[in-house]
Amino acid sequence: MFYISILLQLLLSAAVASWSISYYPRSICVLERSSVDFSCTFDYPYYYTPKTTKWFKPEVHQKQDGSQMGISVYQSNTAEIHQLYKNRTAYANQDRNCSLQIHNVSKSDSGMYFFRFETNSNYGKYTGSGGIHLSVAVLPFRVTVKTQKANGHIHEGDSVTLACGTENCTPTQEQFAWFKNQHLIPEATDSVLRISSVSHDDFGNYSCGLKNSSSTSGDEILLDVKYSPKNVEIAVLPSGRIQEGNSLTLICMSNANPAVINYSWFMIKEANVSHIGFDREFSIKSASQKDDEQYFCTAKNDMGSQNSTVIALNVEVTIHQNFLLTATAVFLFLMAVVMFGLIIRRIPFTSKKQPTEQTPAATVTEEIYENLRKSAESEENHTTYVIYADLSLPPSTSDRPRCNSQEDNTVIIYSLLSYKD
Ligand SMILES: *[C@@H]1O[C@H](CO)[C@@H](O)[C@H](O)[C@H]1NC(C)=O
Ligand SMILES: *[C@@H]1O[C@H](CO)[C@@H](O)[C@H](O)[C@H]1NC(C)=O
Ligand SMILES: *[C@@H]1O[C@H](CO)[C@@H](O)[C@H](O)[C@H]1NC(C)=O
Ligand SMILES: *[C@@H]1O[C@H](CO)[C@@H](O)[C@H](O)[C@H]1NC(C)=O
Ligand SMILES: *[C@@H]1O[C@H](CO)[C@@H](O)[C@H](O)[C@H]1NC(C)=O
Ligand SMILES: *[C@@H]1O[C@H](CO)[C@@H](O)[C@H](O)[C@H]1NC(C)=O
Ligand SMILES: *[C@@H]1O[C@H](CO)[C@@H](O)[C@H](O)[C@H]1NC(C)=O
Ligand SMILES: *[C@@H]1O[C@H](CO)[C@@H](O)[C@H](O)[C@H]1NC(C)=O
Repeated sequence: MFYISILLQLLLSAAVASWSISYYPRSICVLERSSVDFSCTFDYPYYYTPKTTKWFKPEVHQKQDGSQMGISVYQSNTAEIHQLYKNRTAYANQDRNCSLQIHNVSKSDSGMYFFRFETNSNYGKYTGSGGIHLSVAVLPFRVTVKTQKANGHIHEGDSVTLACGTENCTPTQEQFAWFKNQHLIPEATDSVLRISSVSHDDFGNYSCGLKNSSSTSGDEILLDVKYSPKNVEIAVLPSGRIQEGNSLTLICMSNANPAVINYSWFMIKEANVSHIGFDREFSIKSASQKDDEQYFCTAKNDMGSQNSTVIALNVEVTIHQNFLLTATAVFLFLMAVVMFGLIIRRIPFTSKKQPTEQTPAATVTEEIYENLRKSAESEENHTTYVIYADLSLPPSTSDRPRCNSQEDNTVIIYSLLSYKD
């Protein structure tokens, strides 16, 4: 019984098939110079025969509800097609299929489109109500930023939607391409780019276009995400080892939007934290070991603040030159004492009987003792002088063989001095 009723209904509906036209989509946006498809089906009682079919577009000054037929976009009598649409349309031309394609659309094609068919009967003329609304997107694409915030300020954690479109509409059937700082965002292919919880990493310039054509992308827009200071760290200038006495600058580096307005410097000394500065830079005019402490800085903007990691300074104490000179003098003095001891031990055997002879070698040796002894109580400069005087003294006397032991001493001195040098 149930099935019979359905069958009856089907038969009935076929018999009284009503006049109808259905359009899809009802509204569409396409890019200029592209093609647009109007999908359309129509119906009529079987005992009528459609004689003419047409697509028309009311003119701007006419009613847009289909009651006034403007220009013929398509006509089964092709001669009546308006000049603007000649050669630009393709009609399905099948039974009950009224789909239409328009090529190379331009902005002037924007407007309402209606399909109408007329049968051999005077009563059998029908226009599909509603029509299709066509918008033509004129390049370039622009990015618009939408947030739920009234003041438009975007903070970390906010939900943000970037929409790609032209001034009049967005061709949503296309595949889109999104760029952040000119780099493609591969996963974004929709006309909208949603960021549910925006972070400081999302700060940047965005642009969009169509997937295939790089020429469609337009101007960039800055996604101005406000965030508290990040990556706060200290740079030490000059870099490298810190020598005692040198000047030193610590710089508090950070990434913040808006810019940091307050900096603070802290020194940690024996677990006590003390506030030592308010500027971005903290300078030490002359580094010394008392600066060997731990430091950190705080950067603050309207959004918040962050502390840097703690750095420890290590000032190297440079060994002072005076200290070196003194050390050398002491060394030479000790050497002199040692040599003096050696010589004193030898003199009794070799030259005790010779003082009257006044050989040059003996004189030289005595001079050396004298000078070395002096050097012990005088400045190192003199010692140096003695060394040179001694080295430049050639044993040029013709009577060399006479005093072997003296000469031995000289050799010892020479070798020692050259070792020192
Ligand atoms: C349409 O195409 C025909 C030939 O296919 C050509 O003769 C005619 O000039 C074209 N008309 C327009 C308006 O382009
Ligand atoms: C109507 O014709 C168009 C173009 O020939 C075709 O693409 C479409 O599939 C047809 N629609 C139906 C319902 O047959
Ligand atoms: C498309 O239309 C424009 C004018 O709107 C015209 O300049 C252009 O030559 C046309 N392109 C094609 C491929 O017909
Ligand atoms: C965004 O673009 C502006 C203007 O072209 C430029 O000054 C700025 O540096 C850009 N910002 C980034 C993060 O690339
Ligand atoms: C876009 O690219 C896809 C695949 O790369 C291709 O199939 C499609 O035809 C292209 N469309 C245009 C308009 O170039
Ligand atoms: C930040 O610095 C300004 C002046 O530089 C000062 O007036 C303000 O009190 C400072 N704010 C804080 C929280 O330190
Ligand atoms: C540093 O802290 C110690 C205890 O930890 C305290 O005795 C000392 O007085 C503090 N020094 C300064 C300068 O506050
Ligand atoms: C940053 O340093 C200040 C000063 O020592 C301190 O009061 C604050 O708690 C620190 N903040 C963080 C997040 O560690």
